[in-house]
Amino acid sequence: MSDVNINISLKVNRQMGNEQNVFENYNLEDVPQEASFLEMLDILNDKLISEQKDPVAFDSDCREGICGSCSHGKEFGITVCQLHMRKFNNNDVITIEPWRATAFPVIKDLTVDRSALDRIMQAGGYVSVKTGTTIDANSILISKKIADEAFDAAACIGCGACVAACKNSSPMLFVGAKIKHLSNLPQGHPERKTRVKNMIMQMSVEGFGGCTNTLECEAVCPKEISTSVISCLNREFILSKF
Ligand code: FES
Repeated sequence: MSDVNINISLKVNRQMGNEQNVFENYNLEDVPQEASFLEMLDILNDKLISEQKDPVAFDSDCREGICGSCSHGKEFGITVCQLHMRKFNNNDVITIEPWRATAFPVIKDLTVDRSALDRIMQAGGYVSVKTGTTIDANSILISKKIADEAFDAAACIGCGACVAACKNSSPMLFVGAKIKHLSNLPQGHPERKTRVKNMIMQMSVEGFGGCTNTLECEAVCPKEISTSVISCLNREFILSKF
């Protein structure tokens, strides 16, 4: 073994819907430390395919930490596609499980159906007012403080880590980020009341829970979204009643 490669053991929760649910153990040798966590899973799947076994299903897309398809990593403020094997030690045992939430049904192995978050966005997470032709960016003055706050909230990539980490399976960090992003800016003001009501209604329809301030969501968020967005969500919801 070269000094930049490590041996690891994986315990992977493998399942097809709710029919099977077992942990399978795999040993990988000579894993390059410069490989990302997802590349390590690619190495595992190459091995399984060469042994004519079923590869492990997992989600990924951009592999650049911007699409939200994968998950959160071992470290705060990082997606799993941006997590590298140099963060692990030789002979580490790594347990990998899918998101656990009623609203995220398992499709297979580590792949879950997160379309519930899309339906929350379809319920109100957009601006539909007619704005005419594109106007000069400087014609709507927005203070730096407001723009910075909206931009911080817009960093949410909708990965669902907040839901999976929360004991209530609450998506309020996700919904709060979308509400804060849109309600902060003038373009989002006309629909702010219906937006927050519809998104919260859809949250309930999808079977998500509510926030009880355990702050797990903030701790695992790969984009470091602050729970202050949940305060903003609650404030907007109360204001929408008047
Ligand atoms: Fe896109 Fe990880 S694959 S954020």
